[in-house]
Amino acid sequence: MKNPIYSAIAAVTMDGKIATHARQFTNWTSKEDKDFLHKLLDRSDVVVVGHNTYKTAKKPLDKRNCIVMTRSVSKIVQKNSKLVFLNPTRENLDKFIRRMGYRRVAILGGAQTYTYFLEKNLIDEIYLTIEPLVFGRGMSMFESAKVLRRYFKLVSVKRLNKKGSLVVHYKA
Ligand SMILES: NC(=O)c1ccc[n+]([C@@H]2O[C@H](COP(=O)([O-])OP(=O)(O)OC[C@H]3O[C@@H](n4cnc5c(N)ncnc54)[C@H](OP(=O)(O)O)[C@@H]3O)[C@@H](O)[C@H]2O)c1
Repeated sequence: MKNPIYSAIAAVTMDGKIATHARQFTNWTSKEDKDFLHKLLDRSDVVVVGHNTYKTAKKPLDKRNCIVMTRSVSKIVQKNSKLVFLNPTRENLDKFIRRMGYRRVAILGGAQTYTYFLEKNLIDEIYLTIEPLVFGRGMSMFESAKVLRRYFKLVSVKRLNKKGSLVVHYKA
């Protein structure tokens, strides 16, 4: 069986922030980025999100196969036909994804979730939308306790709109 492809997808401000705080709904991205994200998600077999992000985006996620990372469960809990809660400190997430036969995996954040995949060296590619605004403070995409040096290669840069929202695509 082929290996799954893990794609981290994030929108960041010019100062590299994905949110101002952990409960913020991502409502500051451009319409063009939302359209781009939906196209990527339509091509994905499953979405992985952290519990905090899931709580801010339950409705938009409910039509997709979705794995929610949480320590609140001790075993894999199938909430409905599309939604699974899984605790990666107890269950091997990569093994679960392989067992389910998922090939294209969209990692949708937030910071703790992106960081988990980076630390496990599981990110194959990153789609980073840079929106032309600044928060001044907030959460970074990756917030590891360790210094990590992971190099990526630029695949493409695409301008999404007049105001200059950019999608930068990197491969591991
Ligand atoms: N700009 C963007 O592209 C973008 C994308 C996604 C999210 N966001 C923003 O990011 C913010 C949330 O980020 P966040 O870092 O606070 O939260 P998060 O990664 O969405 O969720 C964190 C939660 O996920 C679970 N979790 C994470 N890592 C785990 C691990 N290794 N093992 C077990 N459980 C784990 C825990 O849930 P329990 O507490 O239940 O144990 C943890 O509290 C929100 O503001 C959201 O809007 C922005």
